[in-house]
Amino acid sequence: MTKKSMDKIMALSKRRGFVYQASEIYGGLNGFWDYGPLGAQLKKNLRDAWWQDMVMNPCGGKPGPNGEPVRIVPLDTTIIQHPKVWEASGHVAGFNDPQIDCRETKARYRADHVLVYGPKSGERAGKPWFAYMPDAPSEAKQLKKAEKAFGEVVSFPLTQLTKEDYASVLGPDAEKVGSLTEPRAFNLMFKTYIGATATEDDVAYLRPETAQGIFVQFKNVVDTTRVKVPFGIAQTGKSFRNEVTPRNFTFRSREFEQMEMEFFCHESDARDWYKFWREARMEWWKSLGLEGENLQLREHDPEELAHYAKNGAGVCDVEYRFPFTYPNFGELEGVAHRSNFDLSEHQKHSRQNLEYFDADRGELLPNGAKKGEKYLPHVIEPAAGLDRGVLAVLCEAFTEDASRPSPELMKIHPRIAPVKAAVFPLVNKEGMPETSEKLHQELSKRFNRFGFIEHDVKQSIGKRYARMDEAGTPFCFTVDGETAGSQTVTVRNRDTGTQERIALDQVGTWLGERLGLA
Ligand code: GAP
Repeated sequence: MTKKSMDKIMALSKRRGFVYQASEIYGGLNGFWDYGPLGAQLKKNLRDAWWQDMVMNPCGGKPGPNGEPVRIVPLDTTIIQHPKVWEASGHVAGFNDPQIDCRETKARYRADHVLVYGPKSGERAGKPWFAYMPDAPSEAKQLKKAEKAFGEVVSFPLTQLTKEDYASVLGPDAEKVGSLTEPRAFNLMFKTYIGATATEDDVAYLRPETAQGIFVQFKNVVDTTRVKVPFGIAQTGKSFRNEVTPRNFTFRSREFEQMEMEFFCHESDARDWYKFWREARMEWWKSLGLEGENLQLREHDPEELAHYAKNGAGVCDVEYRFPFTYPNFGELEGVAHRSNFDLSEHQKHSRQNLEYFDADRGELLPNGAKKGEKYLPHVIEPAAGLDRGVLAVLCEAFTEDASRPSPELMKIHPRIAPVKAAVFPLVNKEGMPETSEKLHQELSKRFNRFGFIEHDVKQSIGKRYARMDEAGTPFCFTVDGETAGSQTVTVRNRDTGTQERIALDQVGTWLGERLGLA
């Protein structure tokens, strides 16, 4: 397994209209990205696949650990919630990252992302620690300086240094020692004001996660639908975090989309549901082509656990080996047992009773019915990043093969590929364009709910295949000199480059089967 080039992936993403820098004509905006025509459709297809497999037909109909079908209902809550929501959730007080500034270069860093080089053994003897950001140009520069100063060096997190040590650090991009400030807590929530007066009393926040909207509507969902615990509530939508150092393409953005589901269950069943969702989510990402050694499930160490997850059934991440984390992995989705922390905090802060009455629990009464039990359900939360999912799909799909018409191709899984198929006339005459346009119309009618069907009559056939390979189009149908006689067309498989002939009137059925839409 080799490390792919992130520069090439970003260049193809721009060239073919998957991802653009936001506000690019004004110089761009750090931490914000737009999706071009292919990217917008790819993102929609990934979101739709999540919606289908989490809401419409959870886990493809696989029963839960209780042997029953898994029940999940959708929700769509606002980006701006009552400010008290974020006090109750702990975000106002605790959603902070440690930030440091360089007085010399005016650069800003997230303290827990910065590493330092120091001597492997022996004394520093008045020499500085050499700070660097992994993968940044300063890394090699600082290593050189550190090796010159100490010979053999070791690297460790900047945050392990004491307050006094800060005066002896050479900042990642600085010339003079001691230019870094000490870490300060920086709240990641974007602030805004509601209404015209814009005083401190009007402060509101853009949501940093979609999850809290679900918790605050839990009671309404229970009271207005026929759901019974255990069940889940799912929603997708934009979240905003004023990240100190947005980086690695769309991986850490300031505006991004989440796909979150809060699964409510009785405390005694939480461990089983946690295990169930952990496996189900890993399998889901695999089913979209992220199979193999680039995907892993990592259980958190006890010291990594968030306050709400202490003593719980566990927290784990589905992680993908991105080129910029290589050979390590980066988080794609978290699965957490959040206990009943959120419901209990919202109950306290809102002074509303959010308890659930479970008629199927409690002791057996003489009449054969159960007495029932009131409780605040525990929650298992699979929380995925849609933009990170798209990025993982782009990285996994990117393939180099010098022997192909296109030396760079995108092996995107057919289910989420933005262009499902292309239709070409081999040459732009002899009735071929008319037949191919007819086929294009037929396929479009049948499949354009799921993605584009392209029709291309220009350039050589090799160039047209190359264009489609870069767009990640799984299948290309070509009307050629034989079509009129045999009523067949060729179909070319993107991944193997092989071709076969199939009946013209069977193309729709053939494609539907390959796209899993038969
Ligand atoms: N409700 C729980 C929650 O929000 P999280 O781990 O902070 O948990 C869930 O976020 C997912 O959202 C992450 O696994 C990641 O995929 C995505 N995500 C978080 N911060 C992000 C950012 N700055 N840019 C892009 N995606 C992000």
